[in-house]
Amino acid sequence: MADNRPIGVFDSGIGGLTVLREIISAVPGESTIYFGDDGRAPYGTKSHETIIKYALQDMMFLKSQNVKMIVIACNTASTHAYKALKEASDVPVIEVVVPGARASVKATRNGKIGIIATRATVASGLYESAVREEGKGIEGLEVISQACPMFVSLAEEGWWDDEVTLLTAQKYLEPLKKAGVDTVVLACTHYPLLANTISKVMGPGVTLINSGIAVAGDVKQILDKNGMRSDGSFVEHRFFTSDDPSIFENVAAPFLGRGLPKGTKKVAVDRYDTGDLL
Ligand code: DGL
Repeated sequence: MADNRPIGVFDSGIGGLTVLREIISAVPGESTIYFGDDGRAPYGTKSHETIIKYALQDMMFLKSQNVKMIVIACNTASTHAYKALKEASDVPVIEVVVPGARASVKATRNGKIGIIATRATVASGLYESAVREEGKGIEGLEVISQACPMFVSLAEEGWWDDEVTLLTAQKYLEPLKKAGVDTVVLACTHYPLLANTISKVMGPGVTLINSGIAVAGDVKQILDKNGMRSDGSFVEHRFFTSDDPSIFENVAAPFLGRGLPKGTKKVAVDRYDTGDLL
């Protein structure tokens, strides 16, 4: 029997819309509910405990909407909170780290992989271990991680191809260039928007991995494997934020890449009690 419940996707804010857009194109017959925790973003500068608490509350909100699957679109929440969410959930929870790591290992030719992300993601070390785990067979595998915190603001500012972004990218990416990486994982929701500039700095021979695309493939596979596909008779994409919906909608379009989300509703996500889950 078809499962017409929506797929729940959450992120610290609007960035996860870059993941949602890939999910919508991978499984166009599915309805989705997106929650952006804009009121408490960014997560990339928060502590491990805070990120777990926020992510649990985000998930509890989505669960209250009767979703059939939870996608943690946020790389920072995936690295810090996936385990806690998986333990607390009775529906499949998908995170972005392993799919991104797997795609990078497939893409590399010289075994040198760069990971760029927020400070909290880099500090967790989890992306690096995921790449090492997925790339076990690659002799002399090198993984170089670099935090690029300013990329988040530059992406939200709309300065994707700006000279300020180019200079910032040159500075951040220098260690990856020096190391000679041939593959870079865009391990943050916002970075796909800066892909042109990042590519310009890294050079044409370097493959950029958009983990959103890899995750969308996993979502499709898990739905199919568990017989959870909808019958496509009714498709709806709903949006929620913990901040002002008009602010969300004003910046959302380029992230979503398919026009403006409409009818976004505000959620008081901090009211969700994590009880003994923490
Ligand atoms: N969504 C976050 C991530 O993918 C970036 C923004 C933030 O720091 O909250 O890591």
